[in-house]
Amino acid sequence: MIQTPYYLIDKSKLLQNMEKIAEVREKSGAKALLALKCFATWSVFDLMRDYMDGTTSSSLNEVRLGHERFGKETHAYSVAYADYEIDEVVSHADKIIFNSIGQLERFADKASGIVRGLRLNPQVSSSSFDLADPARPFSRLGEWGVARVEKVMDRVSGFMIHNNCENSDFDLFDSMLGTIEERFAPLLKKAEWVSLGGGIHFTGDDYPIERFAERLKRFSGEYGVQVYLEPGEASITKSTTLEVTVLDTLFNGKNLAIVDSSIEAHMLDLLIYRENAKVSPNEGPHNYMVCGKSCLAGDVFGEFRFANELKVGDRISFQDAAGYTMVKKNWFNGVKMPAIAIRELDGSIRTVREFTYTDFEQSLS
Ligand SMILES: Cc1ncc(COP(=O)(O)O)c(C=O)c1O
Repeated sequence: MIQTPYYLIDKSKLLQNMEKIAEVREKSGAKALLALKCFATWSVFDLMRDYMDGTTSSSLNEVRLGHERFGKETHAYSVAYADYEIDEVVSHADKIIFNSIGQLERFADKASGIVRGLRLNPQVSSSSFDLADPARPFSRLGEWGVARVEKVMDRVSGFMIHNNCENSDFDLFDSMLGTIEERFAPLLKKAEWVSLGGGIHFTGDDYPIERFAERLKRFSGEYGVQVYLEPGEASITKSTTLEVTVLDTLFNGKNLAIVDSSIEAHMLDLLIYRENAKVSPNEGPHNYMVCGKSCLAGDVFGEFRFANELKVGDRISFQDAAGYTMVKKNWFNGVKMPAIAIRELDGSIRTVREFTYTDFEQSLS
């Protein structure tokens, strides 16, 4: 028995996503790079590597991890690079994508030995959260002035455009790609490659993979570009649970259960976007508000239904706990950091990482 809390990555579920990614690659000719910002748990890269073309990154640390732990094609991107890190970034990458013309002009020469690109911002997105909307007013994420970009085309051979956010609607993807084509056609015609970023939930149930692949292939043919996708969430969706144990129950107008984890420390994205965790099945006569053990008053995973009354020692599995969780976990309140375990394809479970007091202590000084 592994001591809770722990994240449990199920390789057979991960494989289902990988197979869909492989299908899209095969049918469309697009390449797929894992977005490490979403998921960087390298113990399962051995499985993912066979189905994906490499990784993309948001920082020096991520590009190095991608290069050293995943291998294959390694894209470097960052909102802004510092002088002291650019050489090391270039040493780990096959391609570097600058966020702005300013960064490109500053570092183009240092990166002249690898492929260079620029982030474009089409000013439309599918985000329903202002906080996560790359197309929000005054967004710093990429350039949108075609004439300005045309002047630096001698230094770039392609573009990255990330404007899909949690988008499971193919028609919306299709129409936004149409907008990109309208706005950036003169640039796209001069490009050799275009990365369409992440945020497209094409591994979800019922996503029209054939139509998606056909659209990518058509885009690639029209402009003569190698298309890249940067799936984060789509790569790992539904592959992982966060396993927790009930430590206490009380009744304060509602049944409350306190577990040995914290939404703020271990599933932070849900808190930021004011979303509930998922429990399955969420059925039965007993309703509980399941709460974390940090001191934050709003450390609440959500309200769920259970078949039986909850009691101390009961286990709860929060579903869909891979994306933007392990990469964002933190030591708030010194709450025990969840271990990371893997369910192998043969069903056996092995713990690949445990965190101790020393890790907590060493995260500060
Ligand atoms: C540039 C870029 N690529 C890829 C991703 C991955 O997105 P997702 O995890 O939604 O697929 C993101 C997410 O913010 C991003 O900003």
